[in-house]
Amino acid sequence: MIYVVLVRVACLLAASTTVCFCAAPMGWNSWNSFANIVNSQIVQQQAQALAANGMKEAGYQYVVIDEGWWLGERDTAGNIVVNPKQWPAIEPGQKDGDMANIAAFIHSLGLKAGIYTDAGRDGCSMYPDSGAKYSNTGSEGHYEQDFVQFLKWGFDYVKVDWCGGAKEKRSGAVQYAQVARAIKHAEEATGRRLFLSICEWGSQNPWFWAPGVGGVESTIWRTGGDIIPPVVESLHDPEHAKRVITLKNVLDSFDAGIHPEAQHTGYYNDLDMMVMGMRGMTDAMDRIHMGLWAMASAPMMVGSDLTRLSPETLSLLNNREALAIHNDPYGLQPIKVFEPIPGVQVWAKPLAVAGRRAVAILNRTDIPAQVQIDWGKLGLVGTPPRLRDVWNGRDIAAAESSFPVPAHDLRLLSVDGEDRKPVEYPAGRSNIVGIQATGGPTFARLEYTNTSGQVAVVSVKSTSGLSTSLALPPTAGSGTGMAGFILPRGTADLSFEGPKVAVRKLTVHYW
Ligand code: GLA
Repeated sequence: MIYVVLVRVACLLAASTTVCFCAAPMGWNSWNSFANIVNSQIVQQQAQALAANGMKEAGYQYVVIDEGWWLGERDTAGNIVVNPKQWPAIEPGQKDGDMANIAAFIHSLGLKAGIYTDAGRDGCSMYPDSGAKYSNTGSEGHYEQDFVQFLKWGFDYVKVDWCGGAKEKRSGAVQYAQVARAIKHAEEATGRRLFLSICEWGSQNPWFWAPGVGGVESTIWRTGGDIIPPVVESLHDPEHAKRVITLKNVLDSFDAGIHPEAQHTGYYNDLDMMVMGMRGMTDAMDRIHMGLWAMASAPMMVGSDLTRLSPETLSLLNNREALAIHNDPYGLQPIKVFEPIPGVQVWAKPLAVAGRRAVAILNRTDIPAQVQIDWGKLGLVGTPPRLRDVWNGRDIAAAESSFPVPAHDLRLLSVDGEDRKPVEYPAGRSNIVGIQATGGPTFARLEYTNTSGQVAVVSVKSTSGLSTSLALPPTAGSGTGMAGFILPRGTADLSFEGPKVAVRKLTVHYW
């Protein structure tokens, strides 16, 4: 609680002079546990659980209704028509069949409301779950109309899927730019913000084009397919009965989502909704899941049934020190710094406090491991004087550098030491060429001004061939913005598109 309040206060104080950093969104999504049986009652129960079980205080704020909320029916003016029995009135004076009812309910709990559509004509529809296949559940041809409608209903967030787009063989970059611009127009028309969640599954490398697509703020993009097909506990058909989550499901989503060069302050690779505590997940698997998503600063949209979480799962989801790693202002993905034996991996990421690192020791194997950490590989000088075990919130003896990790488990540490001296590049320029990132993981901190009034997309070109783009929100007056990013290996050139963007300071840390 104190941490969350401090971040919010820091943002408010900073807002007058600098751009406010936004952590990746946290909340609940209906798909993994309810699939196409989602309805008003289920969403109300889940929202109430989230508001009452400590998750809201921990920072989980979005309640997102995924596919299944409508069946592709529009009126003669093209407006979406929903089933009044699925979305009835909740309060006196409301009308059945109005999505504003559920959005208002979610808001009444102090939470934000999310909804779902597809960038194509059709959505993913009902497959692979029970029920018929429905057409026309996407927004193509109605982008602005639908986004205005979502905002008028009261929604704050929209997940835009890719089933229809893929079926029509569209370009993701082109289609999502249109989506982003339509959202911007809808925001201008209604005076409300609609957060865009891009769900293109990594099929067209969205990490290269999604940050700031269409020149507007688009801050999360899915990097892979679904972590699991939905596990709907109330459906007792043979198909659902046999669905069990495995550690491989979780690890595959993490592995598919590692694109550290693309992620930077405020812009995030989305590893998919979380399956904490769902069928097949053990406490150790939950630790791995929570630890990896926190290390990756990935969106934390929990897809579990929140009314059935065990105290253990809940305490992991609400672990303040893990969430502080997740919400770190740099918002970076971790780097695998070494793998002493195959499947035993040490992942580390720089945090915004000088000399601080988050470290995950992941044991994918089925035998216990003892892992010796070489602090030099984390860009630190000497042995760090302060080590913390995040899961139990206790300090570890400072001289410790060898850690036991059970089979199929994850240790999460926070480490305070001294940074190796960084290199500083000259300020006041719009292009910086020849940044060396050849020796090992290289992390950069950029202070910039962007007086163009809109998101500037800056390219980082690298001799390794792995080029990427950074989206830099506008700055106000003489204020600066900050972006932390990980450089692709090789020699990198940073080039700013417009004349209204300039570097104030670029500091490069070599690990
Ligand atoms: C796709 C998405 C999922 C979910 C389903 C709904 O598979 O990747 O997250 O939204 O569609 O059908």
